[in-house]
Amino acid sequence: MRRKVIAGNWKMNNDLGASISLASELKTNLPELGENQLIICPPFTSLESVNEVIKDSPIALGAQNMSKQDSGAYTGEVSASMLKSVGCEYVILGHSERRTIFNEQDALINAKIRKALSEGLKPIFCIGETLEEREGGITNQVVKRQVVEGLKDITEENLALIILAYEPVWAIGTGKTATPEQAQEVHKFLRELLAELYSAPAADKLIIQYGGSVKPDNAGELLSQADIDGALVGGACLKSDSFVNIIKSA
Ligand code: PGA
Repeated sequence: MRRKVIAGNWKMNNDLGASISLASELKTNLPELGENQLIICPPFTSLESVNEVIKDSPIALGAQNMSKQDSGAYTGEVSASMLKSVGCEYVILGHSERRTIFNEQDALINAKIRKALSEGLKPIFCIGETLEEREGGITNQVVKRQVVEGLKDITEENLALIILAYEPVWAIGTGKTATPEQAQEVHKFLRELLAELYSAPAADKLIIQYGGSVKPDNAGELLSQADIDGALVGGACLKSDSFVNIIKSA
């Protein structure tokens, strides 16, 4: 049995004070995690302070993006070593908002994943199709391209450090969740693809999260699907009670 991994993507929400409050509430109300894992991804400006809040708890810290560069004249960018120095263990890469709003392409995402791994950060690697692509019947083709390109030159040993997050773009922030069956179908396809690209044992071990309008009232059913190993939660992680209820359904 694979463990479940729940991650909260705060996106561009919560200034320093609000971040400290949310992290503190979460820590206070944290349910028993058992083998399961919990990650929160605050904005850059709150990482160090949130790390102070959660450091004696089982909550792990992640960032929402990272540069592929080590250092230098890249105004506004943040490097892997900077993220590590404030306590990050994880970093979300390839989120659909980065792909669409900031025009991040597969090759750049692949470079970022490789950089993160070489610096000892674990990527939460996001993929997913748009509504147009789903309606055009090319969901599998799209996620396959994203996986193949995103994981280019990544070894099986390093794959074990990656969390894959399947997030259909049409379900993100829209209140439209993929049905558990729709999500399971893609997750199964992804696991079979990974078995082909790497090996059956590697695919079997891989954590594949679902993301896109996960809420307390749909988390249980999504997380009970055979190939859904966790959730990447946006909107519903911004209130500690709804996030705690999602964690409890894992
Ligand atoms: P959402 O966001 O839960 O608000 O749909 C998920 C995500 O973007 O990771």
